[in-house]
Amino acid sequence: MPRKLAAGNWKMNGLRANLTEIETLAERHADSPIDILICPPAPLIAACQGTLLDIGGQDCHPATSGAHTGDISAQMLADVGATYVITGHSERRSDHGETDAIVAAKSEAAYAAGITAVICLGETLAEREAGTTLSVIDTQLTGSVPATATVQNTVIAYEPVWAIGTGKVPTLDQIAEVHAYIRAHLNARFDDGNKMRILYGGSVKGSNAAGIFGVPHVDGALVGGASLKADDFSEIITALEAS
Ligand code: 13P
Repeated sequence: MPRKLAAGNWKMNGLRANLTEIETLAERHADSPIDILICPPAPLIAACQGTLLDIGGQDCHPATSGAHTGDISAQMLADVGATYVITGHSERRSDHGETDAIVAAKSEAAYAAGITAVICLGETLAEREAGTTLSVIDTQLTGSVPATATVQNTVIAYEPVWAIGTGKVPTLDQIAEVHAYIRAHLNARFDDGNKMRILYGGSVKGSNAAGIFGVPHVDGALVGGASLKADDFSEIITALEAS
């Protein structure tokens, strides 16, 4: 069984005053049998050094350094204590025009820096309604997940775009179908594909977490809004610990 992972993506939320949420979580889940990751905004990452939780970035540039004003490299994230970085989040894909090729290059940059890429993918509502979900997922997996992916350097996050921040969650059957598809793809491409973690993301909260964690091939969650407060995220972590 892959080791479970509860990951919080704070997106563009959080000031230094909010670091107490991370301290509270670390204290509450000090002996947790699962991995717990917080991806705060980049300016807060260095201040998280010393916490017992894993800390990650939300994006990185494909290059190690250079003339890329405003960008941050994976090596820089690693340098201030990050051990993970999210790549290909749908908000990056839509706000910044990131293609599968760019996402793959960013993920390779993470590997080169020795950190784990949480590679995100998921269909839009129009794609789901058109019945093309699985082919969209297949294209994104093929294009975004580098051939050098391993169980150590890669986590996949399935996040249906229409479920992010909307309170709408796919049915458990819909989640099961996509996760089984992703698992089959990983098994076909990678020797250790059966151990690679596949997270579900999109409107996960304490009240729906246990049901989602009961779905086969759901190895954890990537949580946005409900990861901002220790009390809310703790409920989700507790459900994953119990699953
Ligand atoms: P919400 O949990 O706020 O729906 O966000 C999910 C997400 O995008 C995590 O990366």
